[in-house]
Amino acid sequence: MQLLDKNMSALYRASTWGWSPTRKREELVLPGMCIARVMDSTAPGQLAGFCTYLIDDEDGDQVLYCYELQVAATARGLGLGRRLLQHMMSVARATPGVRFLMLTTFQANPSRGFFERCGLAIAPSSPDDADYLIMRCPITPTVAATHDTPGHSPAPQSQ
Ligand SMILES: CC(C)(COP(=O)(O)OP(=O)(O)OC[C@H]1O[C@@H](n2cnc3c(N)ncnc32)[C@H](O)[C@@H]1OP(=O)(O)O)[C@@H](O)C(=O)NCCC(=O)NCCS
Repeated sequence: MQLLDKNMSALYRASTWGWSPTRKREELVLPGMCIARVMDSTAPGQLAGFCTYLIDDEDGDQVLYCYELQVAATARGLGLGRRLLQHMMSVARATPGVRFLMLTTFQANPSRGFFERCGLAIAPSSPDDADYLIMRCPITPTVAATHDTPGHSPAPQSQ
């Protein structure tokens, strides 16, 4: 929550949403919410970055919705943000039925350039007249696994 506060509270306060740590805490424990954290090896107990996400339905499409992607100011520019995004893309690709990775960001957030650099674009559902926008990128599923293990049926073989 400290990192989120440092990185985002000013942007939230300047927006129509306002800043509510309580709402953010509630988001973190939504059913199905996943979190990936990376600790700063040079500062014991400090987070270098984290992301939170869940699989959800958006207008009839299964999506991986990224709720947070946060890198500490001291750890930026080293590729960690991209790695966390790639982690979410890997999960999305390996989750049957997921078609997009999506997120919401403020128009005023300079991080929008990062998302564009990493292949996201403005989603058709993004509003024209709001202070936030919705971005997404399509997900190409991982080639179907053919493990002969319980719960994994081998792909049908053509004769
Ligand atoms: C956005 C953020 C996650 C990027 O993390 P990072 O670890 O510094 O990014 P990376 O080092 O992985 O950068 C990956 C690429 O994006 C580029 N990039 C990073 N930030 C950028 C920005 N603000 N605008 C344009 N490009 C950017 C990098 O130059 C790099 O480019 P390359 O492909 O040429 O190497 C980080 O700045 C952050 O936490 N910001 C504050 C929180 C925030 O706004 N999160 C998003 C909420 S929706």
